[in-house]
Amino acid sequence: MSAKLRAQGARVLSAVLDEGKSLNEALPAAQASLANPKDKALLQALCFGALRQYRLLEAAIDQLMDKPLKGKTRILQRLLVLGLYQLYFSRIPAHAAVGETVAAAPLLGQGKLKGLVNGVLRNAERQGEALLEKAAKNKAVATLHPDWLIARLKAAYPSNWQDVVEANNQQAPLWLRVNSRQGDKTQYLDALSQAGIEAVSEESLTCGFYLAEAQDVTALPGFAGGAVSVQDGAAQFAAQLLAPVDGERILDACAAPGGKTAHILELADAEVTALDVSEQRLVRVQENLARLKLSAKVVAADASQRDWWDGKAFDRILLDAPCSATGVIRRHPDIRWLRRDQDIAELAALQARILDNCWQMLKPGGTLLYATCSVLPQENREQVKAFLARTADAELLPIRDDESAQQPGWQLLPGQNKMDGFFYARVLKKP
Ligand SMILES: C[S@@+](CC[C@H](N)C(=O)[O-])C[C@H]1O[C@@H](n2cnc3c(N)ncnc32)[C@H](O)[C@@H]1O
Repeated sequence: MSAKLRAQGARVLSAVLDEGKSLNEALPAAQASLANPKDKALLQALCFGALRQYRLLEAAIDQLMDKPLKGKTRILQRLLVLGLYQLYFSRIPAHAAVGETVAAAPLLGQGKLKGLVNGVLRNAERQGEALLEKAAKNKAVATLHPDWLIARLKAAYPSNWQDVVEANNQQAPLWLRVNSRQGDKTQYLDALSQAGIEAVSEESLTCGFYLAEAQDVTALPGFAGGAVSVQDGAAQFAAQLLAPVDGERILDACAAPGGKTAHILELADAEVTALDVSEQRLVRVQENLARLKLSAKVVAADASQRDWWDGKAFDRILLDAPCSATGVIRRHPDIRWLRRDQDIAELAALQARILDNCWQMLKPGGTLLYATCSVLPQENREQVKAFLARTADAELLPIRDDESAQQPGWQLLPGQNKMDGFFYARVLKKP
């Protein structure tokens, strides 16, 4: 519980909000500077929480300041966000939250403005809940989302956009997938129960369940030996719907970090090519497969090109496309601040290019499963509808009864069955 931890927290928030870095990128480096594992965990909790509540905390700070902190002093706005988060949303005693946050100002090269930080935090402490209540009177602020995203959610889900918003603002449970090569779900749930760990099975998933309370996964029975992997329930439908068969050639076109590649290989003795454009992210694929004692052909290449391909058609293709990730905001609260409205059209164009290219590598009679962790129709239903319209040999294989070429695919919304938001559409290449 140190000033250094608060200074690192302000730097992480600045990396996300000012430099467009993801929490996954910014947090590990900041954590590495802290020796104590408890401090590392606290830093993570504060940064995740502060980004989740950012819009409210920003509005509250604006109420307490005469003029905004700009230029080099902008880092102090980030520090104040962290300070207010501790006061309102953590169990840290107020005197420690204020004292350590004020003491972080000099560590950020802003020692002269220590008094300002102290004044703002003391003022917030005095006003108590009334400060946040006033900030939350602004309905846009109360959503904790940027305006552009709310506008898109309202357009896509006129009657239930608020449910999506509410789910995005919750913390997600810890979902796990049993490695079917090592045992089945019932056996694993028994082992957990014997270890005194409460788990909830999801009947629609052959291998999936979530824990009643999050815990260190490395301490779960058999984790190191690959008995179980972390994967949201919604993501587990990918391999389940792809339904791989022994001996098939399968392309996982956007594979890193490899959660779905591993699941496919757990379900069948297939010849899987795990492709991703990011060499760095492919290291994670190798690590995941090694832990699970599985193997795939791992290729660093662009899925919108075929220069890497040996010309042998695939029986099945999973295209888990790069997307806005607007379905997984509850797990990644930084996404709402990293994405921009204009990104959506660019992502949709990239998805269409990858989709058209993958189609050329699929056998007649083969199936392609298109997936995203987005909730936006432009990347999902509209994307697949346009693909079906321009691709003569493509036929929708409905996952749900209510699908048609005009309304293709299955949209899962965040929070439903405690899962992330995901989209799936299955397409057959006509023989
Ligand atoms: C949604 S993530 C994939 C998650 C992965 N399927 C899993 O389950 O672990 C999307 C991936 O697409 C990759 N990607 C982005 N553009 C790509 C492209 N043009 N070709 C191949 N991969 C790409 C990204 O590097 C990222 O790893």
